[in-house]
Amino acid sequence: MFYEPKKGYPFDENPFAALVFPRPIGWISTLSKSGIANLAPYSFFNAIAYEPPQVMFSATGFHSQGGLKDSIANVLSNNEFVVNLATKKLKTQVNQTSIDAPHGIDEFNVFNLKKRKSRIVEPPSIAESPVSLECRLFKKIDLKTKVKNQNIMIIGEVVGIYIDDKFIKKGRIDSLAMRAISRMGYAEYSETYTKFLMERPKWKN
Ligand SMILES: Cc1cc2nc3c(=O)[nH]c(=O)nc-3n(C[C@H](O)[C@H](O)[C@H](O)COP(=O)(O)O)c2cc1C
Repeated sequence: MFYEPKKGYPFDENPFAALVFPRPIGWISTLSKSGIANLAPYSFFNAIAYEPPQVMFSATGFHSQGGLKDSIANVLSNNEFVVNLATKKLKTQVNQTSIDAPHGIDEFNVFNLKKRKSRIVEPPSIAESPVSLECRLFKKIDLKTKVKNQNIMIIGEVVGIYIDDKFIKKGRIDSLAMRAISRMGYAEYSETYTKFLMERPKWKN
């Protein structure tokens, strides 16, 4: 099987997201211009640099009421966002907060998620999430698209990092214990519950 995406896909559903997996989920909190919090999951998300640490997420499509998705509009209006880690424990709310809510709805309130005051940026963090990356906008990139503004990527510098102390063991992060969830294709998710170790090889002359 081989296909050229520009000619469509030889399936009923677009398989692309089922081929690049698992994708970490950036659960993005932002603040609107009028100060209303917003929360939504984005799986076109990843960490992209160490020094300084940077992350990206990208929106495909538009808000159901037209225009940019709230997360993008909010970041562009005040340059800040928080990436919260999506966990198995919070899976229902991760999904619920992807709902096409009208502008101006605070998903924290609607889905009973407590806020934790962020330390450096204004948008709140999710209290129950074990990791929150406080970010400042570095760059907005208009991705290739057929319709203007349909694919927008946000790159942020991580300026503050919250880690729930119970996941710190002897100076290292116990990632596995967080039971992070990630996205595959369709309505499929995966859960990180096993790991193996492999040191990087060193070149010997
Ligand atoms: C797990 C998950 C991952 C998602 N990833 C993305 C994504 O990467 N990009 C995107 O545009 N929408 C994504 N969505 C859909 C958005 O969450 C949805 O459009 C949401 O309403 C956007 O909210 P906002 O307008 O408040 O930003 C995802 C939904 C789910 C459930």
